[in-house]
Amino acid sequence: MTTRLLVATHNRGKMREYAALLADLPIEVTWLDAEGIDAEVDETGVTFAENAVLKARAYAAMSGLLTWADDSGLEVDALDGRPGVYSARYGGPGLSDDARYRALLAEMAGVPDAQRTARFHCVVAIAQPGGAVVTADGTVKGTILHEARGSNGFGYDPVFFVAGYDASMAELPAEVKNRISHRARAAAGASELLAHLLPSTPVE
Ligand code: IMP
Repeated sequence: MTTRLLVATHNRGKMREYAALLADLPIEVTWLDAEGIDAEVDETGVTFAENAVLKARAYAAMSGLLTWADDSGLEVDALDGRPGVYSARYGGPGLSDDARYRALLAEMAGVPDAQRTARFHCVVAIAQPGGAVVTADGTVKGTILHEARGSNGFGYDPVFFVAGYDASMAELPAEVKNRISHRARAAAGASELLAHLLPSTPVE
């Protein structure tokens, strides 16, 4: 019988990315919406790993399925790693993506170029209904620009200058971002771990 994997996200962009990434594995991918699960899990952890693990475990318990969940955000060195796990909430509730990155630019005003280093960070957790869980990390390094550039992507992409690409994340085509992003890197590691959890896959 084919193993079913619940990918615990409502985000359409992530659904597209993860569906493509998991397409070669001998699994049937399903989604929260398809399983009729609309419960939200509070992200009460203080690290990406804690939040990814608590979401994966909670949805695995609700669904009885092997479950994949992630947490991600932006870590800025000059801000001691903020906004970090609070990236989606930075600047206050109800802000648009643009207002959030403008709040970041305002907080970073006066910080010299050499001190504007940052990274996007993602952790993917895969939980079994019994509670066993594995995690994989991915990061992408860059610096915080002084003004927004580009219109692709979402979130902080327009103010994140990607190390080695001479472009902001929002100037890169989706295919490039989806190859080099923190999420793509964490997902690649997680899909290797997943292959070892599947009954039909011989373990070396
Ligand atoms: P979550 O993993 O969906 O909880 O994302 C948390 C927040 O981190 C998002 O709302 C964005 O503000 C930020 N973030 C995560 N990944 C990215 C990305 O690829 N580009 C820009 N911002 C991101």
